[in-house]
Amino acid sequence: MFFKRASANSVADAWAPEPGTPVMTLRGVEKSFPVGAGQSFVLRRIALDIAPGEFVSIMGPSGAGKSTLLHILGLHDSAWSGEYALMGHPIHKLPAKERSALQKRHIGFVFQSYHLLDNLTVYENLEIPLSYRNVSRKDRQSMVGDILDRFQIVGKKDLYPNQLSGGQQQLVGVARAVIANPQVILADEPTGNLHTAQGKEIMELFRSLNESGATIVQVTHSEVNASYGTRIIQLRDGWVVEEEPSNQRSLSNV
Ligand SMILES: Nc1ncnc2c1ncn2[C@@H]1O[C@H](COP(=O)(O)OP(=O)(O)OP(=O)(O)O)[C@@H](O)[C@H]1O
Ligand SMILES: [Mg+2]
Repeated sequence: MFFKRASANSVADAWAPEPGTPVMTLRGVEKSFPVGAGQSFVLRRIALDIAPGEFVSIMGPSGAGKSTLLHILGLHDSAWSGEYALMGHPIHKLPAKERSALQKRHIGFVFQSYHLLDNLTVYENLEIPLSYRNVSRKDRQSMVGDILDRFQIVGKKDLYPNQLSGGQQQLVGVARAVIANPQVILADEPTGNLHTAQGKEIMELFRSLNESGATIVQVTHSEVNASYGTRIIQLRDGWVVEEEPSNQRSLSNV
């Protein structure tokens, strides 16, 4: 029963899956753009099942469709065909309002190009996901304080995104994605602009969130980052060409 229809009221409720329900199921998902008189396909017949607690890495050359796929998974893009169930909810049938409720409630998204809100400070950017979840003002203050501390950006809290370096914006983007403890974390090259040690810290953070139950899908060009995950999906020219376990994770668990 992957494609059960949820009522409007229950759509964003806490998730209590039937045993065996994947977090994400895609069947025949395609995306194309009109080019001249024809269509240019960016994703072809994508079929995926991502189980609760998986940590998946999507890899592949530039232009393969990795960000496009992640944006579909994250409900940032609705212009595609096929079937997608998120936690059993049939996204391809849901109106925008219900998709948005699911997204706000369950998904933390790290954008490849950060996407911080320019007219809000670092502090205010970090508060946004909490404001979607009825967190009290006092709790918001303490949660933002904790994450600023954890990411060592307390001194930047009153600055605006254009006053930060690229790497600092990336850190704020990661902090914003994880602050509300979402069940699903989708991250598009989350360490691309970071120093090696900072990148490692982010991957260690993802590993610990994954061990606490979060399902993670990351896009990465880095073999090291992929080794933190449990499975690698290779994309080429919009096709899934290969799925393989990520072996280093099992080594590190020995
Ligand atoms: N508006 C558009 N019109 C036509 N083609 C587009 C459009 N937007 C994206 N594409 C194409 O979709 C393809 C996939 O882009 P995508 O951003 O998903 O790649 P990617 O795998 O994330 O690459 P990178 O590793 O460089 O981030 C690219 O070939 C791109 O040119
Ligand atoms: Mg990309």
